Amino acid sequence: MTVREILKMGDGRLLRVAQPVLEFDTDALHLLITDMLDTMREANGAGLAAPQIGVDLRLVIFGGFDRNPRYPDRPLVPPTVLINSVVTPLGEAEESDWEGCLSVPGLRGMVPRWSQIQYTGFDQYGDPIDRTVSGFHARVVQHECDHLLGKLYPMRVRDFTQFGFTEVLFPGVAAAEDD
Ligand code: NI
Repeated sequence: MTVREILKMGDGRLLRVAQPVLEFDTDALHLLITDMLDTMREANGAGLAAPQIGVDLRLVIFGGFDRNPRYPDRPLVPPTVLINSVVTPLGEAEESDWEGCLSVPGLRGMVPRWSQIQYTGFDQYGDPIDRTVSGFHARVVQHECDHLLGKLYPMRVRDFTQFGFTEVLFPGVAAAEDD
């Protein structure tokens, strides 16, 4: 088990457009994913993108966080390893909700996202993934895949009156469980 350091906003490595994974089912890829899972669980994250630990690859993990104390009231998203993802909005509808990010600790912002998306890609064995999702699942995917474009959620915030410190916005949230 290796919990890796999570880069914070301001680090230029978070701003890169990530490179595609070229080889699947390799020892190096499996090791990287194990480290990412360990790192995400340690931080109680809803997801984690490889660039957040300084790895310049189009690889994100998310879901499986039914016991996540940071998002106790959120629906379960299936645990997913998503590689070389392509996200396509279905329709024009958007919805806004609060987001946080392990690379932007202590803050929350109201972020508009596509309500419904299709996402495709591959798992770590090279098997294809093709899902149509909406709501929180769609939000998590868009947030994580944004990391692969060098986009952090504050760059998507439109109304900065709804952006601030979690402990101020949501005084009831236990500080220890925040980011
Ligand atoms: Ni994030």
